[in-house]
Amino acid sequence: MNTQTTETPLADHVDMRMVTVKSDDDRLDRNNIVQLDPDHPGFRDAEYRARRNRIAEIALTYKPGSPIPDAAYTEEEQEVWRTIWQALKPAHQKHACAEYLSALQRLQIEPSRIPQLREVSGKVQAISGFRLEPVAGLVAPRVFLESLADGVFLCTQYIRHHSTPLYTPEPDVVHEIIGHGVTLASEPLAELNRIFGAAVKRSKSSEALERLARIYWFTIEFGVLLENGLVKAYGTGLLSSAGELEAMHKAELRPLDLREIEQQEYDPTHFQPMLFCASSFVSMYEEVRSHLVQWG
Ligand SMILES: [Fe+2]
Repeated sequence: MNTQTTETPLADHVDMRMVTVKSDDDRLDRNNIVQLDPDHPGFRDAEYRARRNRIAEIALTYKPGSPIPDAAYTEEEQEVWRTIWQALKPAHQKHACAEYLSALQRLQIEPSRIPQLREVSGKVQAISGFRLEPVAGLVAPRVFLESLADGVFLCTQYIRHHSTPLYTPEPDVVHEIIGHGVTLASEPLAELNRIFGAAVKRSKSSEALERLARIYWFTIEFGVLLENGLVKAYGTGLLSSAGELEAMHKAELRPLDLREIEQQEYDPTHFQPMLFCASSFVSMYEEVRSHLVQWG
């Protein structure tokens, strides 16, 4: 169970234990696809749950390569987006690395409304060749990581419950777009994602997959680096949460060491107490790239 309070802003990718999506086999009731944990902020909101089911249907009936149908967000949900954006804009200027800030400029994301995955995917594809595809929720790590090899990023489309605008127990469209969507509009970061996918495809054992998932976590999701002597974020879990961006300055910093990361466990339910810091964007890119191309 997630022990975060609703005051604690936290966005992460892997902590999806509060939500499950029924598999095809047991989807007897198509109007009740998404199962929220009783502790989920939206558990008692029947309208929210119905909307989550409708958005999940988009993903479940999606044909890869076709345009992604738009999700119908409510005004309350648009307000969630505006609230988050208000907190993130100054946090990005202070804590995001230069590569992220220029990718953010390229994408021209509107602060006033939730962008549709279709729009973001089109822009990202024109820049790096990556495209977004909707998923209803829980995706096995191997499925998620292997799809990266084909230039496909599997994305959730719903937004967190409006009662907790700065907290989500699961990855939502905020994390996907402000975190991953933007970083995939950076050619070097998109390339690292692709190489991750290829390394996972070459790794047959679950033990090797676990080591790669740890590297993904401590670089693509929670990586930091030095820029003019200051610690800046390039990790999507940090860049999609103002709370995480502030908290990263309290984390213990270790020099980027991919062998060490392979052995390092992490807890997705809390702010990260320890982060791996590269000496620059270029050195991070070179190090991660050469480690992964030699993988397996
Ligand atoms: Fe993520």
